[in-house]
Amino acid sequence: MSSQSRVAIITGANRGIGYAIVKALASAFDGDVLLTARNSKLGEKAAGELNASGLKQIKFYQLDVTDESSIELLRKHVVSYYGGVDVLVNNAGVLYKTASTVPLPEQARETVKVNFTAVLNLTKALMPFLRSHSRVVNVSSQLGKLGKLKSTVLKAKFASDSLQESELVDLMNQFVKDVEAGVHIERGWPPESSAYYTTKIGLNALTKILAKDAAALSGKEDILINTCCPGWVKTEMSGPGATKSPDEGAETPVYLATLPQGSPAGKFFYNKSIIDF
Ligand SMILES: NC(=O)c1ccc[n+]([C@@H]2O[C@H](COP(=O)([O-])OP(=O)(O)OC[C@H]3O[C@@H](n4cnc5c(N)ncnc54)[C@H](OP(=O)(O)O)[C@@H]3O)[C@@H](O)[C@H]2O)c1
Repeated sequence: MSSQSRVAIITGANRGIGYAIVKALASAFDGDVLLTARNSKLGEKAAGELNASGLKQIKFYQLDVTDESSIELLRKHVVSYYGGVDVLVNNAGVLYKTASTVPLPEQARETVKVNFTAVLNLTKALMPFLRSHSRVVNVSSQLGKLGKLKSTVLKAKFASDSLQESELVDLMNQFVKDVEAGVHIERGWPPESSAYYTTKIGLNALTKILAKDAAALSGKEDILINTCCPGWVKTEMSGPGATKSPDEGAETPVYLATLPQGSPAGKFFYNKSIIDF
C-alpha cells in the first residue's frame, strides 16, 4: 500500500445506511473504503461479509465518533497509511424513540454529542489532511430544516451566512441547557420531544461553515462538503415501515461522495437535488 492510495471513511457503518454506503462506494470509488464502527465485533463482521462478496477493498477500522482518542487513532492511521483523506461520510447518528424512557436532558446531551459535536470534531481532525478534490458528506435529515424551529430569532441565527462555528456550538449548548431547565419548548426549539431535530438543524448549519473552511485551505482545491437527507429508510432507526431500502438511502450520500469538480458545496441535498435548509 503506497501513501498515495486513496481512501474513503464512513462512520457508523456496521449496519443501516452506513453499511449500504460502504458497499456502494466500493464500486463507485477507486481506493480503499474504511468501514468504521464503534463496536469492533460488529464492524469486523460487517466488513467480513462484504469482503466475502468480493469487495476486498473494504477494510474495518474501529471508531467511536464521540471518543477523541478514537478519532486521534483513526487520524494517525489514515495519515501514516494513506497520506491523506479523499472521502469522509459522517453517517453515524442516534435517534431516541418517542417511547424512550431516557430522561430528556440525557437524550439531548447524547444526541448533540453524536449527531453534532462528533461530526465537528472528526471533520476538523481530518480537515488538514483532506486532499484536493476530496468530498465530505454529512448524513442529516429533513427533520433538520429551519422550519422546525418555532422561534424566529433562533431561525435567523441558524440561517445566517455569517454564523461562526463558536456561535453555533454555543447555540447547541444553549439547547441542552434549555432542555435541562425544561424551557426548550417556550424558547422556541422544535416542540418534538426528541433532540434529533435540533441536532440535524445544527449539522446542516455546520456544513455551511465547514464548506467555507475547506474552501479556504491553502494549497488545496475543489474540496466539497455537503449535507443530505437519505430519505425515510428501513433501518433500525426508522423501522420496517419506512419507504426506502438501505441501498436506496445510500444513493444521495454516494452521489455527494463522488461529485465531479465544479459541483456546489455547503448545500443540503435530497434525492440528488439541492433543497432548502
Ligand atoms: N433511517 C432513516 O430513515 C433516516 C432518515 C434521515 C436521516 N437518517 C440518518 O442516517 C444516518 C444513518 O442512520 P440509519 O438509519 O442507518 O441508523 P441505524 O441503523 O440506527 O445506524 C446508526 C449507526 O450509527 C452508529 N453509531 C451511533 N453512535 C455511534 C458512535 N458514537 N460512534 C460510531 N458509530 C455510532 C451505530 O452503531 P451501533 O450499531 O454500535 O449502535 C450504527 O452503525 C444517521 O445519521 C441518521 O440520522 C436516517
